[in-house]
Amino acid sequence: MRKGPGQPARASARGSTAERKQAHLELCLEEDVGALTRTTLLEDVELVHDALPDVAESEIDTGVRWLGRRLRLPLLITGMTGGTAAAARINRDLATLASEVGIAFGVGSQRAMDEEPDLAWSFDVRAEAPDLLLLANIGIAQARTLPVARVARLVERIRADALCVHLNVAQELVQPEGDRDFRGGTAAISRLVRALDVPLVVKETGCGLSRSVAERLREAGVRQVDVAGAGGTSWVRVEGLRAPESAGVATVLRDWGIPTAASVLAVRAAGLRCVASGGIRSGLDVARALALGASMAGIALPVYQRYRAAGRAGARAQILEFERELRTVMLLTASRKIGDLPRAPRLIGPRLDAWRRFFRGGRADRTTPR
Ligand SMILES: Cc1cc2nc3c(=O)[nH]c(=O)nc-3n(C[C@H](O)[C@H](O)[C@H](O)COP(=O)(O)O)c2cc1C
Repeated sequence: MRKGPGQPARASARGSTAERKQAHLELCLEEDVGALTRTTLLEDVELVHDALPDVAESEIDTGVRWLGRRLRLPLLITGMTGGTAAAARINRDLATLASEVGIAFGVGSQRAMDEEPDLAWSFDVRAEAPDLLLLANIGIAQARTLPVARVARLVERIRADALCVHLNVAQELVQPEGDRDFRGGTAAISRLVRALDVPLVVKETGCGLSRSVAERLREAGVRQVDVAGAGGTSWVRVEGLRAPESAGVATVLRDWGIPTAASVLAVRAAGLRCVASGGIRSGLDVARALALGASMAGIALPVYQRYRAAGRAGARAQILEFERELRTVMLLTASRKIGDLPRAPRLIGPRLDAWRRFFRGGRADRTTPR
């Protein structure tokens, strides 16, 4: 049962929110939680090699401005955790790392903190990373049911610069104790956009955003989204592993969703700025996503896995590998700055082109008029 405003914190049938998040961390470490055959379709973006770039390596500038802040790299470690001592350590290590290398960082869902305000410390990284571009996080279920002032408190308590509201309908439906009522989501987002002092970033969690959803978000006042498309971590798969009674539906729907590259095209066609995430696994993926019009790229699972395998230094080395790959691709496409990538010559493969043509049709991706 879900907790509504004014009700006491209560554990679900499978334990508390914090316990469920802990199970997610373990499964993401030990099991194959990626899509099975679905890909991001970023491989369908063929950036054309420039054998005569007339650019020096020293001229390559990977800096961007995002949410009013300057970053050294167009990267975001997307929200994953909080609520336990182990999660606090992960947040602190990854947040200080992000600050050090000049990228943005998001904490995981603060639902546990809303239920137990004493858990705030496990999300609060501001003292260690005063200059970090930090994103708070709640689910659409909490956005729908909590008073706006209580959501604002979650943001203020950790001194975040923006709030991510995550959409995870597929995950909820596969979770035996998950939400089943999604009414009022758009209105809740619209309320939050108007009431909060910080920007709202609406994110998916691995199933992507269509053009129609992006248009409804824009009408609700949203300007920034994180597509979190299909082709990377599958939350349907994670929940299927956690709950044996959901194994059937999770197997069938493991690859459900809109591929990340297609989702970037969809939300850009709707006029939103976006983070490309979901299956970003190299600096080449980052370059391809930016070439399609994304402002930033986001990564979750690989950073977490590398952190667990090789600590903060391992995660740091991974970000620097992404940087090296991105800089190399920029030079190979004669792109001096990030803003040059959308103009870099590219070939779009047939599968991504089919999605592009589909999303060009405006609201064609929603058949039921409202
Ligand atoms: C261990 C783990 C925990 C996550 N928890 C959250 C969360 O609390 N809130 C959220 O918005 N997304 C959460 N996500 C989703 C990621 O932010 C991201 O959207 C998704 O995993 C796709 O990116 P990836 O393929 O790089 O992992 C989580 C991801 C991982 C791997």
